[in-house]
Amino acid sequence: MIFPVVLSGGSGSRLWPMSRELYPKQFLPLVGEYTLLQETLQRLDGLNPRTSILVCNEEHRFLAAEQLRQIGQLDHNIILEPAGKNTAPAIALAAFTALESDPEAVLLVLPADHVINDADSFRDVVKKATIAAQRGDLVTFGVIPSYPETGYGYIRGDAGGELGQTVKSFVEKPDLETAKAYLASGDYYWNSGMFLFRADRYLEELAQHRPEIYQACQAAFASPEEDLDFIRVNKEAFYLCPSESIDYAVMEHTDRAIVFPLDVGWSDVGSWSSMADVAKKDDSGNTSKGDVIQHNSRDTYVFAENALVSTVGLDGIVVVQTKDALLVAAKNQVQDVKAVVQSLKASG
Ligand code: GDD
Ligand code: MG
Repeated sequence: MIFPVVLSGGSGSRLWPMSRELYPKQFLPLVGEYTLLQETLQRLDGLNPRTSILVCNEEHRFLAAEQLRQIGQLDHNIILEPAGKNTAPAIALAAFTALESDPEAVLLVLPADHVINDADSFRDVVKKATIAAQRGDLVTFGVIPSYPETGYGYIRGDAGGELGQTVKSFVEKPDLETAKAYLASGDYYWNSGMFLFRADRYLEELAQHRPEIYQACQAAFASPEEDLDFIRVNKEAFYLCPSESIDYAVMEHTDRAIVFPLDVGWSDVGSWSSMADVAKKDDSGNTSKGDVIQHNSRDTYVFAENALVSTVGLDGIVVVQTKDALLVAAKNQVQDVKAVVQSLKASG
C-alpha cells in the first residue's frame, strides 16, 4: 500500500570533499556501513512497503541501480529526470508511476540523504499517519526546532496530540527574524522534508495550485522515451516544466495538511557540523568516523576515509580526509564549504 518515493536529486556540495557532483552524498556510507540511500530504504523494513520508486538525475542511474541491487531491491522503479526541476515535479512523476499499479497508492516521500537514529519510532509514526493519508490528508512530519535555521520550512500545528495536528500555517524558508520569532514562540515545527499522501490527492492539489507543473509532468510521463531498465520521461515536455519545490508549490497552499510530531533523531546532514551532531560524542564532545585518534581536542569532528588521522589540541574544528583532498575548517563556518566547491568549478 505504501510506495516509498526516494528523492535523490541533490548534489550535497556542502559535504565536499566526500560529496562530489558525480558521487553525491546520498550514495556514500557517511554514517554507517550502508549508504544514506540504502539506509533510507532499509529503515522501512517492517512497514511492508511496495516496490520503491527512486527519482534521480540521469547521470546517477547506474549508481542508483547498483545500490538498490546491493540491498536486495532487484524490483524497483527508477525515474530519470533529464533536468532537475526540484521536488514538486519529481514527486508528480512518482505519483503517476505509482498510480499505474495501484489507484489507491500512498506515497511515502523520503529525501535520500537524511539520517534517522531511531528507525523503530519512525516506523510507528508512519503507521499512525497512514490512516490520515488514506483519508486524503497531506501528512508532514514535524521536528522540534533547536535553532533558527532559515533553510527549512516551518509548520504551525494546532497544538493537538501525537495523532496528527491540523496545519495552521506552513512557511518555507523564512528570513532570520521570522525564524527567530517562530523558535521563540514554541508553536512551530521544522518540516522534515518527508511526506505521506495518496498519489491521487497530491496530483489533485498540484493541478489546483500549480497547473503548469501538473500538465508538464503529465505530458512528460505520458510519452516516455524507450528504455528497458529505467523510466525515462519525455525530455522536451519535462524541460518545459517550471522548477519548484513541493513546499512552495503545494504545502504552503493546501488546506488539507496535517503534521505528525517526529522525535526520532532526525537530521538532514546538510553540512559537516550536522554530521558531527548525529555522531556519538566522546567526553570532550569530539566525534569521528574512520581511523581517528584525538588527543586533547574538544568539539572536533574528524572524518577519515582511508588514512589514520590524528588531532592534538584542536577546538571546534572539522577535518575531512579523502583519497584526493583534505578539508580543515572552523566548525562554525562549514556552511561556506560551498564556496570552495564553487571556486573549484570556476577554475575548471
Ligand atoms: N529527484 C530529484 N529531483 N530530487 C530532488 C530535486 C530534483 O530536482 N531537487 C531536490 N531533490 C531532493 C534532494 O536530493 C533532497 O533529498 C530533497 O529532494 C530535498 O531537497 P533539498 O534541496 O535538500 O531541499 P531543502 O533542504 O532546501 O528543503 C527541504 O528540506 C528541508 C529539510 O531538510 C524542504 O522540504 C524544507 O521545508 C525542509 O525543512
Ligand atoms: Mg536539504
